[in-house]
Order: sequence, then structure tokens, then C-alpha cells
Amino acid sequence: MTKEFNHEDVQGNILRGYSLNRVRHLVLEVTNRTLARQFLAAAVSGTTDAVPTITRESSEKWADPPDLCFNIGVTFAGLRALGVTQDHLDTFPTEFRQGMTKRAAKIGDFGDSAPKNWAEPFNQPDRVHLIASIYSDTDEQLEKVEQVQAQVAKAFGVIGVQDGRNLPEGKVFFGYRDSISQPRFAHVINPDRANDNEPINPLGTVLLGYPTHYEGLLFRVPNPDELGRNGAFNAFRVLAQDTVGFEKYLSTAATELENHPEVDHLLPPGAEENIFGMKDNRHGALREVVAAQMCGRWRNGMPYEKSPNSTGPIPDTPGFLTNFDYDRESRCPAGSHTRRANPRNGHIVQRMSNYSRRIVRRGMSYGPDFDPANLDEANNPERGLLGNFLCANLGAQFEAVMCDWINVGLQNPDITGADDPLLGANEPETSWFDLTLANGGSIRLRGFPRFIKARGGAYTFLPSLSAIAYLSQLDT
Ligand code: HEM
Repeated sequence: MTKEFNHEDVQGNILRGYSLNRVRHLVLEVTNRTLARQFLAAAVSGTTDAVPTITRESSEKWADPPDLCFNIGVTFAGLRALGVTQDHLDTFPTEFRQGMTKRAAKIGDFGDSAPKNWAEPFNQPDRVHLIASIYSDTDEQLEKVEQVQAQVAKAFGVIGVQDGRNLPEGKVFFGYRDSISQPRFAHVINPDRANDNEPINPLGTVLLGYPTHYEGLLFRVPNPDELGRNGAFNAFRVLAQDTVGFEKYLSTAATELENHPEVDHLLPPGAEENIFGMKDNRHGALREVVAAQMCGRWRNGMPYEKSPNSTGPIPDTPGFLTNFDYDRESRCPAGSHTRRANPRNGHIVQRMSNYSRRIVRRGMSYGPDFDPANLDEANNPERGLLGNFLCANLGAQFEAVMCDWINVGLQNPDITGADDPLLGANEPETSWFDLTLANGGSIRLRGFPRFIKARGGAYTFLPSLSAIAYLSQLDT
């Protein structure tokens, strides 16, 4: 299988992430099919400087990764606009054909998050044909990024632009360090994940045409094989984060907890010093305990499961942050974001699914910096995450995680009915989250709102290099 697998046929940023800190996503409409096809032909062949070259995966360790990367995703409407024939379109999975807006109920996009409330262009999904992403490293490269945008604009209508950047220390808004736990794949050299001891994922977890975690079962490759094989699906999400609301809720919860009769089982007296050095600040330490249990990690990335009473120091041991598991005695709450999104080998109702729903995450933050010292509602502009959630099957993986695990909690009867406290479609009237205690008990938090709202997005297909060439040669 290794011999058969051609790394260079796969677009970059799927099997391994780029270590680049800026992204510009261009939302594109095919307004002239001929020009669009010519652009794709040039982008895949890399023979002209007038069009950016698609960045591809490689079979080697990336000794010298390019400082500017370019990748594309195509929506179902985009495949049609490029001229894929109806009989081939019909072989794509239903959720992709319907598109993200029609799947809103499955992924929690209702209320304020409903697609009718999304900003342009995502509220017109029939016009969203491609999402082209330009990755760069620093603001100094902006000129180059704009040149690429100008090249793209000669072939497509640019109907939306979304800029993202990595925040300092690998953090995202809400102050957590992110992108620590990612699946690693068979046949891929990835020194960043070399010391993870979770099972290696078969390629079919994210790429079409390969074995999956399900013995003998493969996700269907759309026709023709040249178009479907080595492709991946992506849920591109514009997720607004209510940074002010989140920080305020942590304070509300800490105030309630300070007087709770069981609070010493949540945080032993004196442990404050070990929580980011918060000596004599029990309120501040309890805020951090709530944040840590909601996520499953302290905000510096330390897994709560490994260290329920201390945020560090984090040892320099390779794999320390990723090598852990859950069991019935776990202190990491079953309802926490990370345990819901990846139950690892913990006991869950859908026992076959422990590792089969693994999702590759490639996200960057958008919007202005946030100052936690300024919680003025009038100074709470939109900011959040431009997230790419990649998998081989949107229904069986992304939607199954969002619906069963994040929003309904079907994996464990103890949390069924409660939504993910960070990401879920919560309403203050009904929301609840159980904090775990050292004596095996729990304290239930209630009354928190939805902290993360959908503001846009699209399901895209990340075609292989052969598939991009195929699309460029269509003559329909
Ligand atoms: C603004 C939105 C989101 C925020 C702020 C957020 C935050 C985080 C943080 C802080 C972590 C811990 C870092 C790590 O383990 O790598 C994490 C992990 C994770 N998140 Fe999210 N997340 C968001 C949206 C989502 C969505 C939409 C999904 C969809 C499935 C998701 C799936 C995951 C997964 C799979 C993990 C890794 C869990 C593990 O392997 O232990 N997240 N997230």
C-alpha cells in the first residue's frame, strides 16, 4: 500500500499542517468556466508565475516548507459550475451535495447561528463555489498574498475574503492553547506527532480510497476515481467566539463555587498557588478550574486528566501533552469539549466509534486582539475561529461528532441531553455541565449561554492534484 500511495497527489495541509501563521481564505464564484478551468490547469502544473501553484504533500519530512502555500476546496455547487456531469455529481455523499446550510439542524446551526443570519457570501450558498486559501507566515508577506489574490481574481469572482492569524503561544480566543492533539497517519512522516501513543490512523480516516478504522469498510469514492481518490472533505466554519461573555461566565461560576459546600473536593485549599501561581486568589483559581474542566485542558494546554490540581510546570517530555486516556475514574469531565470531540479509548456507547470519527483540525483566529481586562460589552467586536475540520466522510465523522457527541452527548448516559459547554448550542434556561470532584461526586453548573456561534461556512471537497487536473480538462 505504501508503494501505491502517492503523497504528491494529495494537497498539502491535510495529512500534516503547515507551520505558517497567516491565512487568507478567498471565497470564489465561477463566473467564467473557461477561465476557471485554465486557472486550475496552471495551478496544478505550476508552469507559470501568473498563477499560484497548488501546494502538495510530500513523502519526505518537510525540510524546507514553502513560505507561501496555496490550496483549494470546491463545494458541490462549485463542482457543478466547473462542469462535472450529473451522473458523477450524483455519486458524491448526500451531506456534501446538500451543503452546510441544509445540514444546519445536524450541526447545531439554529437560533442566532442559523444560516439565514450568516453574513455574505455564506448566506448565498449557491454562489460559493470554491474556497482558495493562501497561507503565509508574517504580515510582511501581505504584498505577495495580494498578488496571489489578484491572480485568482482574473479567473474567478472573489465574493468573500476572510483573514486569519495564529495568536501568540499557539492560543485561540478564550485563551486556550490549541492544536495540540491531532491524528497522525500511516505512511506519513510527521515528527511533530512522533511521540503520540494513540493508535496510528489509517489513511482512510481522512483520504478517500483507503482502509478506515472500520474493519473491511471503506467510504465510497465518488466517480470517476480520478476525481474522488485522494480527496478529503472539509467543513469550513466561521465561528464567532463571545470572549467577553465567556470570561464573565467564569467569574459568575467561580463566585457560586466559592460558597459551595463541596468546593474543597474541586480544588483542595492551598492548591491555588499551583494554578498559574494564584496564591491567595481562590476566586481566580476557581475560574481557571471551570475553564479547564469545560475544555478538558488548562488554558496552557496541560491535560486536566493528567493534572487536576496544577497547571504545571509542563515537562519537556515528548508526547506529554497528548499521551493520556480516559477511564471510569477520570477527573476530566465526560462533558468537556476535548473528551466529547475525541473520547480516545474511553468507554462510550458507540464503542466502535472511539477512533473512527477522528478529525483533522486546521484553524486560525480572526478578529481584533482581546484584552481580558476589558470586559465592556460595548467593546466586544466579532472575533473567533476560521476552522477547517477535515475528514473522509462529513456525515460519519464531522456531523456525527457535532450531533451525537458535541450537542446531544449520546456517548455517555451521564451527559446525554447536555451540550458541549464551550461549543454547544446552549441556552441559559436549560444548559448544564457537571464539574468532577476528587471524591467521585460532582457539582452541576447551569445557566450559561452559547459562547460560540456559526457566522458562515461551507462544505468543500479538497480534490487531489489529479482531480484538479481532471476538473481543468472537462469539456462539458
Ligand atoms: C471556536 C471554536 C472552537 C474552539 C475555541 C475550540 C477549542 C479547542 C481547544 C482549546 C482544544 C484543546 C487543544 C487540543 O487538544 O488540541 C480543542 C480540541 C479539539 N477540538 Fe475544538 N474548538 C472549537 C471548535 C471545534 C469544532 C467545531 C470541532 C468539531 C468537531 C472541534 C473538535 C476538536 C477536537 C477533535 C479536538 C481534539 C481533542 C483530542 O484529541 O483530545 N473543535 N478544541
